[in-house]
Amino acid sequence: MRKINIAIDGLSGCGKSSTAKVVAKALHYKFIDTGAMYRAVTLYFLQNKVDLMDEDAVEAALNQIYIDFLFNKESQKNETILNKQNVENEIRKMYISENVSAVSAVKAVRIAMVAQQQAMGEEKGVVMDGRDIGSVVFPDAELKVFMTASTEVRAKRRQKELAEKGEQVDLNEIMKNLESRDFQDSTREESPLVKVADAVEIDTSNLKFEDQVQKILDLANDRI
Ligand code: C5P
Repeated sequence: MRKINIAIDGLSGCGKSSTAKVVAKALHYKFIDTGAMYRAVTLYFLQNKVDLMDEDAVEAALNQIYIDFLFNKESQKNETILNKQNVENEIRKMYISENVSAVSAVKAVRIAMVAQQQAMGEEKGVVMDGRDIGSVVFPDAELKVFMTASTEVRAKRRQKELAEKGEQVDLNEIMKNLESRDFQDSTREESPLVKVADAVEIDTSNLKFEDQVQKILDLANDRI
């Protein structure tokens, strides 16, 4: 059976990664969460006080960053590894969400991440989620999905996720963060978040998780 690449883009916090992960598992494909890569770069930049305006410092920092994913059999989750350190919990925290859109708007950061992502998808059989997967990383992906959901639904889901990890955050603060990231991600100069013409839009506000997974699997099976 031929393998395809599946690009899942969309707004912040609408379940792209959780959906992509389950779709990948069902198809025996690789799942790549590109948001985790930008979050890991953000963590490194904050830890090392990298000035985003200083091009040389940004380049030098990017040369020191190696990002990998490790599948944790116990939690059945892909965990993000930054320079051999497991940073999965740290990169999901609010202070990273508050800084990631500024870091991911930097051209050199995008060039470095996109090159790694394209290499990961060279042999096909990849489900990748992010903001510019269908537009920049895999413009020839056989299936492109654009996911949306209302801000309130997204914020409530995110609040529950954070609470499960022990971080209590006010719903309004999460809503503001999601809207601000959507705005920054959609209006930046470098590969902004856009719904490309050949993407299938799925609004998950009133969809059950299993149904959104099934929708994508049906679309994928039509193309395999
Ligand atoms: O997907 P997640 O919400 O974890 O992504 C975090 C941030 O990383 C986004 O708000 C966006 O600024 C950035 N990002 C991006 N391009 C991608 C994936 C994520 O700019 N392909």
